[in-house]
Amino acid sequence: MSNSTLDAIFARRSNRAYTDKKVDDETVALLAKAALAAPSGGNSQPVNVIVVQNVPLILELEKAVIDYFVKIGNEAVVDRIKKRNNKVFYDASTVFFLAVKNKAGVDVGIMSENLAIAAASLGLGNIILGLPGAVFNDPDTAAYWKGKLDFPEGYEYGLAVAVGYAADEGKPHEIDLGKLSYIK
Ligand SMILES: Cc1cc2nc3c(=O)[nH]c(=O)nc-3n(C[C@H](O)[C@H](O)[C@H](O)COP(=O)(O)O)c2cc1C
Repeated sequence: MSNSTLDAIFARRSNRAYTDKKVDDETVALLAKAALAAPSGGNSQPVNVIVVQNVPLILELEKAVIDYFVKIGNEAVVDRIKKRNNKVFYDASTVFFLAVKNKAGVDVGIMSENLAIAAASLGLGNIILGLPGAVFNDPDTAAYWKGKLDFPEGYEYGLAVAVGYAADEGKPHEIDLGKLSYIK
């Protein structure tokens, strides 16, 4: 069966390298609209989308995230980031930050997947990012970063989705049909 939505779902994978080619404004606006089309519990719409395309700011945040994991001595994460060329945003020049209120993590997750699938459907690389949340939660840096990204009062980091022209092929996870059961 051929179906463009299913094709995009199966084409999606996490990309961890991007070219410096920018995603055009019209496409970014379309992706943002796809994010805001996501359903939410009780139609509470608890997520604000903040599109960041300021590369020096993304790089400053990347450094802050790495510094945080070094500061707390989390060697596993520091090693993982090192293996990824000390990248957190992988040189993507557009990052959608999903700021959330009322701890509505499920709604953030749904929105992030809307974005990822929409990007994949347009042939764009993308990756959902939880790690940057560390500096939005650390009391030493939370106010600074929430201010830098203009989070509305009472909003927390939910997730980010980096989007761009992929410079890697990605290595999607294997679909494990062992995690599927039926009760008929
Ligand atoms: C909630 C969530 C948070 C994630 N955070 C990160 C992250 O901070 N850094 C990263 O490199 N990948 C991150 N990923 C990507 C996962 O590592 C990736 O989805 C997983 O390895 C499966 O690979 P695939 O997306 O290519 O199928 C995250 C994915 C999800 C769903």
